[in-house]
Amino acid sequence: MNNTRPLAILGAAQAFAEPLHVGRPNIGDRERLMARLNDMLDRRWLTNNGPYVQELERNLERILGVKHCIAMCNATVALEIVIRALELKGEVIVPSFTFIATAHALQWQEITPVFCDVDPATHTLDPYRVEELITPRTTGIIGVHVWGRPCNIKALAEIAQRRQLKLLFDAAHAFGCTAGGRHIGNFGDAEVFSFHATKFFNAFEGGAVTTNDDALAAKIRLMKNFGFSGYDNVIYIGTNGKMSEASAAMALTSLESLDSFIATNRANHETYAATLADLPGLKLVRYDGTERNNYQYVVVEVNESQAGLNRDELIKVLHAENVIARRYFYPGCHRMEPYHSFFPHARLLLPHTEALADRVLVLPTGTAVNSRDIGTIGDILSSAIANAPVVRAHEEQGGQ
Ligand SMILES: Cc1ncc(COP(=O)(O)O)c(C=O)c1O
Repeated sequence: MNNTRPLAILGAAQAFAEPLHVGRPNIGDRERLMARLNDMLDRRWLTNNGPYVQELERNLERILGVKHCIAMCNATVALEIVIRALELKGEVIVPSFTFIATAHALQWQEITPVFCDVDPATHTLDPYRVEELITPRTTGIIGVHVWGRPCNIKALAEIAQRRQLKLLFDAAHAFGCTAGGRHIGNFGDAEVFSFHATKFFNAFEGGAVTTNDDALAAKIRLMKNFGFSGYDNVIYIGTNGKMSEASAAMALTSLESLDSFIATNRANHETYAATLADLPGLKLVRYDGTERNNYQYVVVEVNESQAGLNRDELIKVLHAENVIARRYFYPGCHRMEPYHSFFPHARLLLPHTEALADRVLVLPTGTAVNSRDIGTIGDILSSAIANAPVVRAHEEQGGQ
């Protein structure tokens, strides 16, 4: 993106000296982390189902109220393993409005991701469209709880049961969220969380699978450790999906600050809501107040005809001011390779995905962002919208 400053022509100084990124990591209590890392070094137990991994798994099972939690090196490998453990093959229905890992985890094992449109109100899989895409080759459905807002779990579970399909949820965004008062992590055949550094709860890199199915959990445990059952005894084909002790130490430390991370995200979200309320053409995506949410994404839908600028023009303005806002999930998995070559006309079936990929803007939040920063971001957006024709003309001239 062209790093010019359209608002500089209006005489404003650059808003932020340091870049303010979406997904800047939350860091919990450093001393607690360092103490854990020192203990880990003293123990010389760095990976292979160490005590921190075991403690993390038991804590997550308790918090989520789920029978099994299996910690993993990241959510992508976790997805690959669960897809394999569920014996998915042929075709699996997934949204295109998701991070590319959801589709890649299927294609990596030569399963065809069949892209399904989302409900424009919820940004998650539209169950009616799912039903239309089922063929004799379909073996499963993967719903994604985008922004931590749950899919229409009931409708998807009903379809999966009636059509005898497996149901997996990519819950990468949804740690700490509930659906109908029950924690995400308990639904479908299994759910997969990401604890990547950009997630509000992080393990540097990490993820977890949760399930209430004993046999599936046992299979996943084998698969994530090369199929080993005790020393020198491999009883299954597997890979390396293990979480390291250093990652588990970070996750355990993050867990101790979970409530304060969520409180910060929530306060930021409310500040954004107040700040953006009067700006035409910017609609903040809200969370259901009757559920628990992690508020880790501040998502705005840009209506160009009301704002006078489109999403990409606003992103240019923000980037020029050092606010590293992001487009999500632009341009949609179906427009990325290899899927674009496989299904060049997929967009015809994905009108809502296409529209969202063109208008969704994600703004920075988390513990690295305070209410003054949000006020400044509001001022940048307000000024850009108030001066839309000037900004547009400036950007059309290449921002010189
Ligand atoms: C929806 C979704 N699925 C999967 C992933 C992959 O997670 P990881 O980076 O832990 O592999 C991400 C990561 O951002 C994601 O947003």
